[in-house]
Amino acid sequence: TKLSKIRNFSIVAHIDHGKSTLADRLIQSTNTVADRDMKEQLLDSMDIERERGITIKANTVRIDYKANDGEDYILNLIDTPGHVDFAYEVSRSMRAVEGSLLVVDASQGVEAQTLANVYTAIEADHEIVPVLNKVDLPAAEPERVAEQIEDVIGIDATDACLISAKTGLGIEDVLEAIVTRLPAPLKGDENAPLKAMLVDSWYDAYLGVIVLVRIIDGTLKKGQRVKFMSNNTLHHVDRVGVFRPEMEQVDQLGPGELGFLTASIKQVRDTRVGDTITNDRNGVEVPLDGFKPAQPVVFCGLFPVDSAEFEDLRDAIDKLALNDASFSYEMETSAALGFGFRCGFLGLLHLEVIRDRIEREYNIELITTAPSVIYHVYMKDGEMIEMHNPADMPDMSKVDHLEEPRIKATILVPDEYLGDVLKLCQDRRGIQEDLTYAGSRAMVVYDLPLNEVVFDFYDRLKSVTKGYASFDYQMTGYREDNLVKMSVLVNDEPVDALSTMVHRDRAETRGRAMCEKLKDLIPRHMFKIPIQAAIGGKVIARETLSALRKDVTAKCYGGDATRKKKLLEKQKAGKKKMRQFGKVDIPQEAFISALKMD
Ligand code: GTP
Repeated sequence: TKLSKIRNFSIVAHIDHGKSTLADRLIQSTNTVADRDMKEQLLDSMDIERERGITIKANTVRIDYKANDGEDYILNLIDTPGHVDFAYEVSRSMRAVEGSLLVVDASQGVEAQTLANVYTAIEADHEIVPVLNKVDLPAAEPERVAEQIEDVIGIDATDACLISAKTGLGIEDVLEAIVTRLPAPLKGDENAPLKAMLVDSWYDAYLGVIVLVRIIDGTLKKGQRVKFMSNNTLHHVDRVGVFRPEMEQVDQLGPGELGFLTASIKQVRDTRVGDTITNDRNGVEVPLDGFKPAQPVVFCGLFPVDSAEFEDLRDAIDKLALNDASFSYEMETSAALGFGFRCGFLGLLHLEVIRDRIEREYNIELITTAPSVIYHVYMKDGEMIEMHNPADMPDMSKVDHLEEPRIKATILVPDEYLGDVLKLCQDRRGIQEDLTYAGSRAMVVYDLPLNEVVFDFYDRLKSVTKGYASFDYQMTGYREDNLVKMSVLVNDEPVDALSTMVHRDRAETRGRAMCEKLKDLIPRHMFKIPIQAAIGGKVIARETLSALRKDVTAKCYGGDATRKKKLLEKQKAGKKKMRQFGKVDIPQEAFISALKMD
């Protein structure tokens, strides 16, 4: 194919602004898929994504389009994930295409993720076409939103496409804009050694790992032997093809083209987004620059509620990890929770998705311990330890100081909620860096400890702003602070899964809140239960759960047998989700709820 007839692009948008709906429309209006095969949200392949409406795994589709100039074009759309957790993969895969459609909901305007994603596209040198979606809604204000795009993002929006991805209005304009306003790929050398970028990869039960590639130079053919430069592995290419969006084999892919290869690769782990693929011999010497594998930043323990399910959990985690290079895990034993795994994730959404899949697809009930970030613990002897788990905190007397990861958070919020947002950030040890206005909305930038964000920051933000705020963040580095490990003792036994790192100045407040919470969450027993928070050996907060005196059912319900039975059944069901710590039953939800801060 002539390069001048290829357009490679992605769609950037805030969640729910209509990225998937537009992608579906583009596919449908060019008859890439027969209508009867058209499923809702074709590009979101996993059920869980569809249910949550979040695009997790990048995907791609090749669209044939006859433009108004009478020429046939090939449009390659790559679908990138929209969530902050996957920011690194997004920024890598963006480098595989030359342009982006910037989709903004015309009834909502620019949001935090619009900004984050469009800046990624700008960094990748994309040409950008603004698309104002949902103009069918009565609340749509395309002129205002176009102005906002110009003011806030600084790109020209006079020629923005006004569309409704839902009704199909304006889709033709978008296709024409792709052809006329986005650039063709830069010329590559067909006869040079193969140089291709690994854009994405995922596991397929029949074909092994499917690798999405963008060819820079050379050609990729079936039967060829290739090398992945980051780990120097060699592979024999079984198939080369394109997505329409179902797989279709082709003879070869040349410069400027996007497509896939399969090579009987067993694990997605072996295929890293951003890696360079070349010939096994006489390949390129210098890989594409800036490659680094995505690193997990949030860690937590996953334990089976029923310890007999440990092997099943191992199996589930092994399988999930095969398909997810950025999910890390190792076995962990906890005095309180028994055998489980310490797992690392790219962020909270990633954690939730993996946890949900284990519970749903593998039917294993889990106890999730408090998420933690990686602390740098500087010992007095000069050694630095990367600590993923507060339970591993070394003896304080040997520690010189601790550093924690910080983030730069960007929050867009309607004026009336600004005060609440500032308070929330302040409460989480945030340092305000900027406050400006984007139309009627305030844009605040805060420097925050990641530790204060991983837990329930996003939930709190949503609740104090009634869902009107949008949020995005990026990691900025490590900084020293006065951090200590807070342990929790239930009935004088330390419950390691409840240990957390806290700022020294906030330890008492946190400790008190946690003990009060636990007092509500732990059911009363036949004996008195002290609940304590401690730093080192020193108790800083304490509550006492009083003993249960009589049989509750006997007292409350007397002769009413059915109600009594119901209550007992409910208790039994609740029991299943409890774990015993010494003599005390702690319900599963306590591990998460106790850590939520109001
Ligand atoms: P993520 O996959 O979560 O990033 O969301 P998305 O940006 O892909 O949004 P999606 O396409 O799933 O659309 C979000 C919601 O907006 C869905 O309920 C769509 O039906 C609706 N929607 C999309 N386009 C339009 C439109 O033009 N008009 C109206 N009224 N609704 C639309």
